Amino acid sequence: MAHPDRARGRAAPARHHCDNGGMTEIPEVDLGNGIAMPMVGFGTWQIRGELAYEATRHALQAGYRHIDTATMYRNEDQVGRALADSGLDRADVFVTTKLQPGNAGRVQATMAESLKALRTDYVDLWLVHWPPRARNLVPLWRDFLAVRGQGLARAVGVSNYSVRQIDELIAATGQKPAVNQIPWSPSRYDAGLLAAHAERGVAVEGYSPLNGTRLRDHTLAEIAAKYGVTPAQVVLRWHLEIGVIVIPKSVRPERIEQNLDLFTFSLTPEEVTRLNHL
Ligand SMILES: NC(=O)c1ccc[n+]([C@@H]2O[C@H](COP(=O)([O-])OP(=O)(O)OC[C@H]3O[C@@H](n4cnc5c(N)ncnc54)[C@H](OP(=O)(O)O)[C@@H]3O)[C@@H](O)[C@H]2O)c1
Repeated sequence: MAHPDRARGRAAPARHHCDNGGMTEIPEVDLGNGIAMPMVGFGTWQIRGELAYEATRHALQAGYRHIDTATMYRNEDQVGRALADSGLDRADVFVTTKLQPGNAGRVQATMAESLKALRTDYVDLWLVHWPPRARNLVPLWRDFLAVRGQGLARAVGVSNYSVRQIDELIAATGQKPAVNQIPWSPSRYDAGLLAAHAERGVAVEGYSPLNGTRLRDHTLAEIAAKYGVTPAQVVLRWHLEIGVIVIPKSVRPERIEQNLDLFTFSLTPEEVTRLNHL
């Protein structure tokens, strides 16, 4: 069977306008096999119903080309409708969804339901939302690899896994997760954990970047004032500086735009170090 990447072509890097009139690209992480994952995505946890549709539509209009959803969020249908109505080519948007381990016994059916709701015939990344019971860890991973083999998910990965659990998957199957989606923010910075993922070639995707941060912190305020941006933008930019994929959520149009407006400034190495120790 033709690999889905070749069949569908590589997603074009997302471009959007900056205030200075220039064009910038959202940086991407190479997941291998020609799969490029935009480093800024739109998070959709706790957004339901029409709000999920409106927020995702706005995010796509604002230039996001990566959407993060999950079966558990109960908004795949609204995300799918927003994708369909956006007029964008499917190959130009990176779509992640997740399987909750309670569905470990019905992997194929869960994927079929996600694809139907998302109105697509493949997702770019399918994650195990959190680790199942130890005895199911490897069998569920084998099922994920099979779904990838069917071309229904271009890449497969995990979320909320420890390095030890990732090692168990690799030892049993020889196949690493492309991504581990874990809570991440300056206050959770852990150089050792980043290095452990890098050694294994597993991309780190951070979640709750803003929820996990005291946005009124003095250091953040000082750096934000220097660049004329908000503390939230400094936190999101910091993720990019240290190579962590970031997926901020907002239901407010102005914040959705602001959270992607990260390319008119960059942080100095000293500022990154200060934020690492926030
Ligand atoms: N794998 C997992 O287990 C897991 C767990 C949690 C989250 N996630 C994923 O990660 C995504 C992000 O995490 P999250 O939803 O927990 O939280 P988040 O993105 O860190 O923060 C969202 C909160 O920050 C506010 N906010 C957004 N932009 C802001 C800005 N520019 N300035 C000030 N406040 C701002 C939002 O309020 P408004 O909406 O009112 O703007 C909301 O209250 C989720 O949506 C989900 O896709 C995954």
